[in-house]
Amino acid sequence: MHTIVKHPLIDVKLSIMRDENTKSKEFRENLNEIASFMCFEVFKDLQTYDSDETYFTPTGVKLHKKKLTQKIIIAPILRAGIGLCDGIKNMVPTARIGHIGMYRNEETLEPVEYYFKLPDVENPLVVIVDPMLATGGSAIAAIDACKKRGYKNIRLMCLVGAPIGVTNVEKAHPDVHIYLAALDEKLNEKGYIIPGLGDAGDRIFGTK
Ligand code: PRP
Ligand code: URA
Repeated sequence: MHTIVKHPLIDVKLSIMRDENTKSKEFRENLNEIASFMCFEVFKDLQTYDSDETYFTPTGVKLHKKKLTQKIIIAPILRAGIGLCDGIKNMVPTARIGHIGMYRNEETLEPVEYYFKLPDVENPLVVIVDPMLATGGSAIAAIDACKKRGYKNIRLMCLVGAPIGVTNVEKAHPDVHIYLAALDEKLNEKGYIIPGLGDAGDRIFGTK
């Protein structure tokens, strides 16, 4: 299943990111802001409970602090997934961060796992994050890596997806809900999303 998180503010920010002349700082800012907006949809079904912690409103009413029932792990696929983390943490400060190291072999486009570390949390919701869902290979491998270690409740949050990537992830992992800010047209012969926004990792970290 997948959801396109449609919002005019996201469309405006995404078009800034797609512009080849947008510099790294502005690219990162817009990426994090879109990630914050997307949290509204990705976490909308979470339950809360009234904790033992109490406070008074300025009108003298005593209330219990609301807390999230579900423990959350944000798991960026390295490197580019890091680019969404601040935006998500701003919205969900109690979320813990893990890291999944995955790169695409540029010839075969096959993902290679080189690092995996998630925080030790019981029964978490794991949200795997990456700006780009191209062939879907990296996302599928990241989900495989989580399931292999016993994680069951997994969502995937990306900025831009290609139809083939969405289809591939849905086939491999029908239980994982995919959230996107945009579903683009296609992949080019090098596996880049068209129109896309180029190499997200390079643009976030200024490596090219
Ligand atoms: C990019 C992107 C995804 C992957 C998407 O990472 O951030 O992880 O490619 O492609 P796929 O759906 O075809 O697997 P890349 O391998 O370029 O690594 P980087 O984050 O280090 O730049
Ligand atoms: N990875 C990127 O960074 N960009 C794409 O368009 C496809 C994969």
